[in-house]
Amino acid sequence: MLSTTDTRTIILTGDRTTGPLHLGHYVGSLRNRVALQTIHEQYVLLADAQALTDNADDPAKIRHNVLEVALDYLAVGIDPELTTICVQSALPALAELTLLYLNFVSVARLERNPTIKDEIQIRGFGRDIPAGFLCYPAAQAADITAFRATLIPVGEDQVPIIEQTNELVRRLNRQSGRELLPEAKAFVSKTGRLPGVDGKSKMSKSQGNAIPLSASDSDIEAAVRRMYTDSNHLRASDPGRVEGNVVFTYLDAFDPAVDEVADLKSRYRTGGLGDMVLKRRLAAILREVVGPIRERRAELARDPDFVMDVLRTGTTKSRATTERTRELVVDGLGLFRLDW
Ligand code: TRP
Repeated sequence: MLSTTDTRTIILTGDRTTGPLHLGHYVGSLRNRVALQTIHEQYVLLADAQALTDNADDPAKIRHNVLEVALDYLAVGIDPELTTICVQSALPALAELTLLYLNFVSVARLERNPTIKDEIQIRGFGRDIPAGFLCYPAAQAADITAFRATLIPVGEDQVPIIEQTNELVRRLNRQSGRELLPEAKAFVSKTGRLPGVDGKSKMSKSQGNAIPLSASDSDIEAAVRRMYTDSNHLRASDPGRVEGNVVFTYLDAFDPAVDEVADLKSRYRTGGLGDMVLKRRLAAILREVVGPIRERRAELARDPDFVMDVLRTGTTKSRATTERTRELVVDGLGLFRLDW
């Protein structure tokens, strides 16, 4: 039987496969994953089943983006020798655990989850909310516990999902009278969310304000050119605002020369520094960041067999892991087990 006292740190992250990833993902999570894979055991989930919870009308989009997101992972340096990359819908134990967990959570609790509440508002769901969408915190609890993950790097908005996971874990542990499953900690990246180039909201493909990881040099230049700075900074000689200025937000996220950026900020505030100087600097830096990712991505895209192989290997390993947890939970709950 699986040891339940194992305290190694296991990391699980995932992405809904609704579109290729962009610089916002790179800053907020991909960079971290590349660093964390050398320190801890790490799983990354291509969450196509979760993507279906609010995209049931477009499964083709979700299927297509499984490979697109996998290419993004490999292109940024997530190394399949160090990180297990797997496909959610190909892991039946996750669905089975979800079904079990749904009995230990009320509809009221799901509706109270702040993440779900916000998303219901944004999407304007009423009683027509897909049941799968309302229940996705239980499904995500299944993901997290199935891998016995204890550290979950996520955006701030996902923290209530982890809290609800831990509630379920405590409930199941209480019910079974033992430490069946470990609780998990959310790990929220300090570099908050990257705003979109319009400065209006977080970077998002659906908002049309994103720079994808496959952006060409001229895409990058065009995006930087239309980046929001300070609408009152009309002439270079005018004093300008640094707060809320997207170009500075990006320099903070990408420019390794922190002292020089600090100097640029003070010159901008005083007046005498034009937007174009800053934008040229930023465009050069972003070309340096995206260029190698784009090239590696194009190279990998020419070798779909390799990518498929990575997914097959990762998913096979994950099947074993998640199936063990399913058995543990069935056992812990004291359900009937047919002796094959
Ligand atoms: N809900 C996550 C998101 O929208 C994706 C996800 C699915 C996930 N399963 C997960 C993240 C398990 C962490 C752990 O970004």
